Amino acid sequence: MILLKNREDLNRLRKANLIVAETLNELKKNITPGISTAQLDSIAENFIKKKGGIPAFKGYRGYPAALCIAVNEEVVHGIPGPRKLKNGDIVSLDIGVLLDGYYGDAAITVSVSEISHEAEKLIRATEKSLYAGIEKALVGNRLSDVSMAIQNHVEANGFSVVRDFVGHGIGRNLHEDPQIPNFYSPSAYNPRLKEGMVFALEPMVNQGDYRIKILGDGWTAVTNDGKLSAHFEHSIAITGKGPWILSSA
Ligand code: MF3
Ligand code: CO
Repeated sequence: MILLKNREDLNRLRKANLIVAETLNELKKNITPGISTAQLDSIAENFIKKKGGIPAFKGYRGYPAALCIAVNEEVVHGIPGPRKLKNGDIVSLDIGVLLDGYYGDAAITVSVSEISHEAEKLIRATEKSLYAGIEKALVGNRLSDVSMAIQNHVEANGFSVVRDFVGHGIGRNLHEDPQIPNFYSPSAYNPRLKEGMVFALEPMVNQGDYRIKILGDGWTAVTNDGKLSAHFEHSIAITGKGPWILSSA
């Protein structure tokens, strides 16, 4: 069941998501060769708390940190630790915040200093695929219009869409109905979009094959072929005036 949100709900969702956006900006400023992923996690956690929020991922199904950080061939859900970032890495940062009973969720992929042309192309195509999906998040469209717009953009650029993770509704829960595949799935629930639906759209895009595996820590998803992966996510509301990007800065 898709829970519809009213104005008051949306205003609160915006507040949670604004902290998410600000946290991602804060992290971006601190991305530099030599910083460890654990240091970035504590920057995120302190920043969220300073803003009055609660890190939403910490403790979620036993996840141990505020930040999900995925470097290079890591796709999503990388756990912060002693690993230090180095020149040429690409780094996905995923943040969730709980504020006043409402969740915010967004992710970006950034580069550490100079990256390869191919890596840059992957990052830009992933970000643009998210915006291609957002553009289709219109009252009266079907959910598959969003999914297909994302997939088409990714594949037109020669990359592949991860199948094993999907976007989701968001509100008073981090994960609500519906599941939102970033690819056309004939078996997926495919409702018409209504005012008051709130979605976290989050394409995960691989440079090579779309298949992934989970490492022994039970969380970190990596590409099967060891090639790069990127991830962008926004939480958006469907409104009569078009999509409202709740997690923009
Ligand atoms: N953006 C991701 C999601 O919606 C992050 C969840 S990480 C977890 O699934 F640790 F909270 F599981
Ligand atoms: Co999410």
